[in-house]
Parts: sequence; C-alpha cells; structure tokens
Amino acid sequence: MCGIVGYIGTRAASKILVEGLKTLEYRGYDSAGVATVGEGILQRTRAKGKLINLQTKLEGLEDPAHLGIGHTRWATHGKPEEHNAHPHTDTKERIAVVQNGIIENYRELREELKAKGHQFRSDTDTEVIPHLIAEYLQNPAENPDSDTVLTEQSSFLEAARQAVNRLKGAFALAMVSVDFPDELLVVRQQAPLAIGFGQGEFFCASDTPAIMPYTQAVLTLENGELARLTRMGVEVYDFTGHRLKKKPQTLNWNPIMVEKQGFKHFMLKEIYEQPGVVRTCLETYLDTSWDQQSGRSPINLNLPNALLDDLEHIQILACGTSWHASLVGKYLLEQVANVPTVVQYASEFRYAPAPLMANTLTIGVTQSGETADTLAALEMEQTRRSASCDERHAPRMLGITNRVDSSLSRLVPHVMGTMAGIEIGVAATKTFVAQLMAFYFLSLELAYRRQTISSARLAELIEGLRQLPAQLELVLESQERYVEELSHDFADTTDFIFIGRGINYPIALEGALKLKEISYIHAEGYPAGEMKHGPIALLDEKVPVVAIATPGTVYEKVLSNAQEAKARDARLIGVVPMNDADAEDTFDALLPVPIVDELLSPVLTVVPLQLLSYHIAARRGLDVDQPRNLAKSVTVE
Ligand code: F6R
Repeated sequence: MCGIVGYIGTRAASKILVEGLKTLEYRGYDSAGVATVGEGILQRTRAKGKLINLQTKLEGLEDPAHLGIGHTRWATHGKPEEHNAHPHTDTKERIAVVQNGIIENYRELREELKAKGHQFRSDTDTEVIPHLIAEYLQNPAENPDSDTVLTEQSSFLEAARQAVNRLKGAFALAMVSVDFPDELLVVRQQAPLAIGFGQGEFFCASDTPAIMPYTQAVLTLENGELARLTRMGVEVYDFTGHRLKKKPQTLNWNPIMVEKQGFKHFMLKEIYEQPGVVRTCLETYLDTSWDQQSGRSPINLNLPNALLDDLEHIQILACGTSWHASLVGKYLLEQVANVPTVVQYASEFRYAPAPLMANTLTIGVTQSGETADTLAALEMEQTRRSASCDERHAPRMLGITNRVDSSLSRLVPHVMGTMAGIEIGVAATKTFVAQLMAFYFLSLELAYRRQTISSARLAELIEGLRQLPAQLELVLESQERYVEELSHDFADTTDFIFIGRGINYPIALEGALKLKEISYIHAEGYPAGEMKHGPIALLDEKVPVVAIATPGTVYEKVLSNAQEAKARDARLIGVVPMNDADAEDTFDALLPVPIVDELLSPVLTVVPLQLLSYHIAARRGLDVDQPRNLAKSVTVE
C-alpha cells in the first residue's frame, strides 16, 4: 500500500519522481505528492485523487531541483484530502517525509510534540515524523541509545535515527531536508524499501518497477535499516547507528514488463500472459527428461528432504486470491498426496492460531511477498514452533510468492517462485494461475515421495500439465469476443452468484471476488451443494448464476444444482466442457473450456471468469486496473 519514490543525482528530480509514481500508482491512488530540495527551497506539491491531478498541478512549474521524494497514497489515517497527502513537513517546513505503513504510537507522539510547540496540519500518523526529526535536530536526545552517534557524518541522519527509534509500527520512509541538500534518507521497518544504484545518481522506491527503467543494480533494505543516499554513494546503518556493509544485487526484470503493450488495461494483458506463465512454470519445475521408467521424481523443487519428508499435516496461510489458490492446493495435497491440510486466513490465524500439530509444513502464499497479515502470521508461527520443546513441532516453513526479492523470502528459509513476471493490475490473474501451478508441483512431488499415486497416474497428470498452455490459448482465442458481447447484458446487474464444487469451489469464490473488486457488483461464491441450505432464497430473474460444471466426480451434481437455480428463474451461465449436449440444454450462456483431467481444470475454468469480470467492469467504464479503495500489496494490517 502507498508508493514511495526518491531521487538524488544530476537530473530534474520531479520528472523522475512522477515517472516512478506512475509505476507505483497501483499501490494506492487516493492522493499523490512530491517534495524537492534545491537552491535553498523545499518545494512541495500535493493533489487529492489520482496521480494525473498531481501531474496537472506540476505542469508548467519549473523545478530544476536534483533531490526529491514522492508518494502515492492509500489512506489509513485521515481522509483522502490534499492536506493529508504526503509528503508531510515539520512546522517550519524544512523537512519533508513520505511514509508507507502505520505509526501505531502516533497519538502519544503528537501530544508530546504539540506540547513542545509543534503545529500539526494533517490527520495522518506520518506527520509526527518530520516534527520528531525537527525536534531531535534542535535538541538531540540526551541519552542517545547508541554508542555510535552519527552527528559527525550528518546531524540529519542522527536526528532521523533518533526519531525512528521512537516509532512503533510497520513502516518505510523517505526523507529530505532543505538544510541538508545533499542527502536523501530512507528507512525500512517491516515495509519494503529498495535503493537503485546509478552513475552519480541514486533512487529509492517501495517497489522495484519504479527503479527498473534507470538501473538493474538494486539493494533491498532489511528491517531495522536506515540509509543515507548522497551523489557519492549509499551508506547503510542499523537503528543503533552501526554502519553495515551492503552490496546491490542485479535484477533480471525488464522495464517492458511494466508496459501495457497494446492492451487497453494491464489486467487484460495479464490474462493473456497466462499461457506463457504456465509454460515458464513447467520449464522451471518439470524435469524435461523424465519418463515413467526413470525411477526419479518428475518435479525439481530444489527443497530439502527435511522439509518434505514424514509430513503429518500441512497448514497454509494466505489472504484474498492467494487464499483461494491455497484452497485448490488443499484439495490437491489431500486428494493426490494424502496429507491432511488446513487453509487459514492469515489475518485470523495470527490472533487465534490452532494448537500446534506435529510434523507440520507451514506454507505462506502471497504473490507480493509483502502482505502484512501473511508475514506476521508466518513470523508468529515460526516463533512459537521454535520455542516448543517438542522437536516434532520444529518449524518447517515454505513460501510461495511471485516476488522472490520480497520480505517473505527474508522471513522463511525456503521459497517457491511462481515465475509470473510482475503483475500491475490490482486484481490478481496470472499470479493466481501461477500459484495453482506451484501447488500442482508440490502435491505431485509429495505424491511421488509418499507413493500415493501410481507412476502411470503421475505420468498422466504430468502430460495433462504440459497440455495446459495450448489449452489456455484456445480458451482465450475462442472466448474473448463472446464474453465481451455477453458482458453487455450485465451493465445494470447488481448481484451475481457463482457456484462450483470440489476443486472448482475455490474457482467460484475467485470468480465472485474478481467481479466484486473491479466491477463493484455484489457477488457471492458458494459450494453448489450448499445453495439449498439458504442462499437459494436470493435467486430470481434478476440474479444471474455462474456455474462451473466440468467433467469429474461432481459434474452431474453441479448440473442438478444449476437446474435448481434455473427453476427459480435465474439466468444460468455455465463454464462447461466444449461440445457437451447436457450443458447446452442446461445453460442460457456457455463459456466452454477443453475437457481435461478434473484435477487440472481450475487452471482453465478461472479464465472465462476473469474475462467476464474484466469485460463487465470495462463495459461499465470503470478503472479496471485501479479499482476504488484497493491497493496491490496490503502492507498494513
Ligand atoms: C484480489 C487480490 C487480493 C490479494 C490479497 C493478497 O485480486 O489481488 O485479494 O490476493 O491482497 O495479496 P498477496 O497475494 O500479495 O498476499
């Protein structure tokens, strides 16, 4: 949530800041602002609403300053008004700060600072920070909690360090001061912050896409680190003031990944990238030379035996769409690998964890690798398992993420990357399919180790996985135009129901989530068999029902459940097997997918639902890539 950028170098900072904010706007878009420092002036420009409003304000403003910070906001404390937009300043407007996160103890700090004469102008938690730094610049702490006081290097750095030590919460910061025109300070404490290394110029951002156009050399700060960027280089310190030795890494992401490449929206582009994503996952995790006779696993997970052997349970922690992918994962892990599996909302688990179970693999699933609840739940689990005297409770932690450079990778010792490339659309699409692929590989590897399926069945499923990219292409080619036309019928629809069973029940949940988050239509996903236990009362001719009915154990059951809905006058849309007479008789509109093994069907059945929600939202003229109230990574609790 919230995007932070910063620049120090030789070019005009404000242009670079705005370009950076454009790539980070998906993190929050309630308001935006920049502050630059040059020729003894701190110039701050802020605007309510989308970044375009800030750009309009900046047009025609000559600002040659070479140092600055910028922010795009997802409101936590204080309404999305201009006076709450970042950057925030101290009373004398000498220091400007942008923040991503939450300062939990801001109320007491605010009272303390007000009592000392500081004047506050916003309702935000962030504003305490510039005031606190101003206070420590004027009155350095009497007993600085450091044996290495940084005043010799920079009193700005030392004052910022003292201020940061007073803050409670999870945050990332970028700070400038007109009195220190050669310094950009950045801080990371449980919210992401990366530094880009150029030639005589340095960048910072809460996410690497903002840095990628300028440099591939990036240093990701760890929690509890503070850095000083000058035109000469980067110094990194811990919060006690000790200098740390740090080197940048080279990113292998490409700026082209963050362009729309002719698509109207990132979401549509990302839906279309899915065949390629599945291909990359197969290339990464499948042993191409494997055959049934080879006597080894077809999967290359590169995970230690100690993590995967003798498992009695698996628990998966996730939020949102990742939670839906995890439900598909549970189905696979139980039905294919025979490991009892529970899936928990990370936000619930962290305050009410289940009693410890023995020999348990804990998996955190998060595409961004930055979701605050998922990270906190994993950290808590790791801590309580490490504290247990029973060695059967020892932590076995695995992350599944699309961002192997994220906070998740710092938290857990083993990570499976989902290889989807950066996802910009706020609604997750290709990363969901990539998470499904990760669960296929994990469950097949465990099935192989535990010998829960025959090698012939294993070979059959591997062959089925290999066919998926071409089948995805077929779904996209055959449905795009029809779904676009179908979407016209729902311009005024206010409620939708999605039903599915078995491995496609989570796809019904995902279809409903996609529709509500980007089209603002109320939608619910149900296990089809549960409809008659209550929700069927909602049905009439105004409430369309989307049923996922693909061949397998529950096909006829779902068709019967769909008939029950039809008998209540609901308009029926079916995600159904291609060329199926029963389906043609039952449904009013058909979204056909190739016939595949039931276990593999979610990879295909989700696509028509993504297209349906995309086209309904686009048809309604909504901002598909940046839906209201949402942000791509939820880095606050
Ligand atoms: C929905 C969506 C969200 C995320 C959720 C978790 O399209 O994107 O529901 O799935 O916020 O995010 P990650 O996977 O980054 O932990």
